[in-house]
Amino acid sequence: MEFKVKNICCIGAGYVGGPTMAVIADRCPDIRVVVVDINKERINNWNNKDLKKLPIFEPGLDQIINRCRNKNLFFSSEVDKEIALADMIFLSVNTPTKSSGIGAGQASDLKWIESSTRQVAKNAQGKTIIVEKSTLPVRTAETIKEILEISNQDSLSGEIDKKKFMILSNPEFLSEGTAIKDLENPDRILIGGEDEFAINALSKIYERWIPKHKILKTNLWSSELSKLTANAFLAERISSINSISALCEATGADIHEVAKAIGMDSRIGSKFLQSGPGFGGSCFKKDILNLIYICNYYRLDKVANYWEKVLLLNEWQQTRITEKIVDKLFGTITSKTITILGFSFKANTNDTRESPAIKICKDLINEGACLSIYDPKVSPSQIEKDLNEKATIPPNKKAAGTWNFYESIYEAVRNADGIVILTEWEEFKSIDWSIVSRVTRRPSWIFDTRNIIDTEKAKLENFKIWKI
Ligand code: NAD
Ligand code: UGA
Repeated sequence: MEFKVKNICCIGAGYVGGPTMAVIADRCPDIRVVVVDINKERINNWNNKDLKKLPIFEPGLDQIINRCRNKNLFFSSEVDKEIALADMIFLSVNTPTKSSGIGAGQASDLKWIESSTRQVAKNAQGKTIIVEKSTLPVRTAETIKEILEISNQDSLSGEIDKKKFMILSNPEFLSEGTAIKDLENPDRILIGGEDEFAINALSKIYERWIPKHKILKTNLWSSELSKLTANAFLAERISSINSISALCEATGADIHEVAKAIGMDSRIGSKFLQSGPGFGGSCFKKDILNLIYICNYYRLDKVANYWEKVLLLNEWQQTRITEKIVDKLFGTITSKTITILGFSFKANTNDTRESPAIKICKDLINEGACLSIYDPKVSPSQIEKDLNEKATIPPNKKAAGTWNFYESIYEAVRNADGIVILTEWEEFKSIDWSIVSRVTRRPSWIFDTRNIIDTEKAKLENFKIWKI
C-alpha cells in the first residue's frame, strides 16, 4: 500500500530546515510544509515581508520563499499544534559539540534532539514518519525510537488510537552558499531505514525532482555513519592540501599548480583542493570530533588519533597565517591597522560559525592590532558576539588591540599596513588596487589567503603580496 504524505512538519528553522523545506514545498505544491522553531525571532524573520531580512542568506532562497510562503510553505512557533497535524516530521535541530559533562568537547550534544523527540511523542497523532535530518552519531535512531516507544506506552492508558512511529535517517549534504543548487540537484539522496512503507513515502517526495538512481537506500546505521564519514573525508582533503601548502612555501613549489596537477588524476579529482585559511562552518569540526568520540568509545584509538590530526592541522593553518602577518610587518603589529576582508566561513553565506576569521582576528587583536573589518553579509553585532569584544566607538578612534566594522572595502582599507583576505567574496576579486594604494600606509602588504586577487595589478600599485 502506498502512503501519500500530505502534511510535513520540520522541527528547526535553521540553515538546513529553512532551505530544505523551501525546496520540498516548491517541488511539491500539494504538500503542506510547516517549519517550526522555538526561536520566535527566527520565525518572525522567516515571515518578514522584506525578503532581505530572512534569517539566512542563501542565493536563490528569497525567490523560492516568495513563490511558496503562505501558499504551501509556512513558518510557525506553534510546535505542538503542527506536530499533531503532520504525517511526516523532519528533525532538523542543532547538534553542536557538548560543552560540559561526559564527552565535553567531543560528543554531540543531543539535548535538542531529545527534547524535540519528546515533543513529537507527546503531540503526534496516529501513524507518523520521523525523519532524522540533523547530523547524528551512529545509532541515535535507537535512542529516538526508545523515547517514542516509552512515551507512547505512557500515554496509552485511556487512548483509543495507538500512535505508530517509523524512523528514517535522511542526512543532508547541502553546502552553505550553494544550498538551493545542492537541494535541487543533489549528488545523491540517502535514506536509511527498515520500514519499506516509510522509505517509499519519503522516496516518493524526492522522486518528484530527483532521478530514482540517485536515491540510495541503506540500513539506518550506514546512513547515519555515511554522513559523518562524508564530512570527515571532505575536511581531510582540505587539511591535506593545506599541509602541502606549507611545504610549497618552504620549497618554492606553487600549491595551486600542485593542486591542479594532482586534481587531474581522475582517482583524486579536482574538487575540494583549494588551500586557504583552514575549514570553518558549523559541521566539519563538530562531526570529526563526534567521530573521534565514537571511535574512542569503541576503543579504536588508532582511528581516533588519525582523525584528530585533521583538526590539529586545520588549527595550525590559522595560526600559521597570523604568524606570517606579524613576521612580514617587521615582527610587530601593535597599533598597526590591519584590514580584514571577509568574516563569514566561506562566500555567499552570512554564517560565521567556526569561521577561520574568528581565530585569526582574535590572535591579531591579542598582538595589539587595530582591525578594520568588512564583510558584505555579516553584521557587526554578529562579529561582536564572535570576537566576544565590543567595537571601538567612535570608529575613527584607534587603539591597540581593538576592532571596527566598515560598510565598504574602500573605507575599511584606510591607513592599513596590511590587508588580509579571509573569505572568497566575489567583490574582492575585482578590487581596484590603484584606489586602495592611495589610502594605505607604506609598505603595504596584502595577505591573500584565498588566492583570489589579481596579483599582477596589485604589484603594479607597489603592494607587497603574500599568498598561500
Ligand atoms: P541551526 O542552529 O541553524 O538550526 C537549528 C534550529 O533548531 C534552531 O533555530 C533552534 O532554535 C531549533 N530548535 C532546537 N530545538 C528545538 C525544538 N525542540 N523545537 C523547535 N525548534 C528547535 O542548525 P543547522 O545549521 O540548520 O543544522 C541543523 C542540523 O543539520 C545539525 O545537526 C547539522 O549538523 C546538520 N547539517 C547542517 C548543515 C549546514 O550546512 N548548516 C548541512 C548538513 C547538515
Ligand atoms: C559542508 C559539506 O560540504 C556539506 O556536504 C555538508 O552537508 C555540510 O558541511 C554540513 O554537514 O554542514 P559547508 O560547511 O556548508 O558544507 O561548506 P563547504 O563548502 O564544505 O566548506 C567548508 C569549509 O571548507 C569552508 O570554510 C571553506 O572555505 C573550506 N574549503 C572548502 C576550503 O578551504 N577548500 C576547499 O577546497 C573547499
